[in-house]
Formats: sequence, C-alpha cells, structure tokens
Amino acid sequence: MSLIIALDGPAAAGKGTLARRLAGHYRLAYLDTGALYRAVGVAVMRQGIDPAQESAAVAAAESLSPSLLNDPEIRTEAGGQAASKVAAIPAVRAALLDWQRRFAAQPPAATDGQAMAGAILDGRDIGTVVCPDAPIKLFITASMEARAQRRFKELQEKGAGAIYARVLQDMQERDARDQERAVAPLTAAPDALVIDTSAMTADEVFDQAITYIDRILAA
Ligand code: CDP
Ligand code: CDP
Repeated sequence: MSLIIALDGPAAAGKGTLARRLAGHYRLAYLDTGALYRAVGVAVMRQGIDPAQESAAVAAAESLSPSLLNDPEIRTEAGGQAASKVAAIPAVRAALLDWQRRFAAQPPAATDGQAMAGAILDGRDIGTVVCPDAPIKLFITASMEARAQRRFKELQEKGAGAIYARVLQDMQERDARDQERAVAPLTAAPDALVIDTSAMTADEVFDQAITYIDRILAA
C-alpha cells in the first residue's frame, strides 16, 4: 500500500522532529519541503538580489541545485526569511510542485519487502496543495512563545549569539507572511488532525501521532 503522511504547521512547531521519527517508525522516505524554499531563497540572496524579486526567484527555483539542500546557510534565520519571501511568489511554488509530488509518489524506501510505498512530507501546504489526497494529514502547531523559545534554545545550543526578542520578531514576521500570502497560505486542511505541541514533549507528540495513524491504517 502507499502511505502518504502530510505534515504542516508554523515554524518550530516540531514538524521536523515528528517527521523524522515517523519516517523511521513506518520506514518511509522523508522530504523537508522547507529546505527547497530555503535553498531558493539563499540562491537569490547569494546573487545580491532581494529574494522577493520575482524573475530571479523563479529562475533559482527552476534551476535549483540539490547540493544547496545540504548547505548550512539555508538553516540560518536569514535563510528562513528569504524562504518565506520566495514562497509568496506563485511561479516559485509552481516550479517546486512537480518535484514534491514526484517525491510523494516514489516506491518503497527499502527493498526488503518490509517498507511501504509512500512518503512523509512536511511544510506549509502539503495537506492542502501538494498532496490533498493524502490519507493522513497532521497539522502541528504551538504558541508563538513556545516556538520562539525553542528556536532561541536551538540557536544558543549552536553557540550562535541569539537575542530572544529578535528571534520572536523574526518568527512573527515569517508567520504573518506565510499566513497572509494569497497563494497556498499556511492553514490546516479541514481533514487534518491538529496537535498543539506547546506543552508536549516530542515523545508525547509522537505517541499521539502514531495512535492516530495506526487507527486509520487499521480501518
Ligand atoms: O520542523 P519545525 O520547524 O516545525 O520544528 P523542529 O525543528 O522539529 O523543532 C524545533 C525545536 O523544538 C527543536 O529543537 C525540537 O527539539 C524542539 N521541540 C520541542 O521542544 N518539543 C516538541 N514537542 C517538539 C520539538
Ligand atoms: O523550519 P521552519 O519550520 O522554521 O521553516 P521551514 O519549514 O524550513 O520553511 C521555511 C519557509 O519556507 C517557511 O516560512 C515558508 O515561507 C516556506 N515554505 C512554504 O511556503 N511551503 C512549504 N511547503 C514549506 C516551506
């Protein structure tokens, strides 16, 4: 069978943490779609061009180099801000859509007969636009403060001199841009299970998700 898990939500809600654990548990391939938008944003920034500039952003999306997906620069706050600017451009989203759908349609990740076909994708519009027919949709969210605290802690642990108020402001700006854009805004699909992780550990989120998924798989 083919199992597509669509996982959406705002920044630092815990999507990647949950996606990696679910991918291991169900032996599914995993695509962090935010990395695609981050890579496009960074490619434009490196040319010294504003990521909101449409023609440069579309050209970068159409010629995206896979090696950029592993570049540490895409993980910076500047990379996140650039990502949310290119992500508001419809032609950029269109250029990345086929790529994401092909990933979702891939054969089993392992060849030992144990793995299922399918994939887990996380992002902002997986359940609404990229894979609207996914049998399993999760919308992972948390309060703005909880999310900013998590990002702040991550930056501190990396030794990056972060200022909490700045992290909070960056996150507010990025959330607003993601929610207010005209095309594929961040929103939960009507058939998604919403999990508010503000006061939950990663283990608790994982347990709630697999209970839900196993119930759907058994039905
Ligand atoms: O992928 P996304 O930006 O949604 O979030 P993440 O990278 O999975 O999680 C952001 C941070 O929150 C990480 O440092 C996680 O360890 C942490 N986290 C948490 O504290 N509690 C959770 N329930 C989930 C994640
Ligand atoms: O890790 P974090 O949750 O902070 O962000 P991300 O998932 O890496 O996404 C970075 C940015 O890319 C988001 O703020 C969105 O603007 C954009 N994005 C999107 O528009 N659609 C997606 N499917 C994934 C990311």
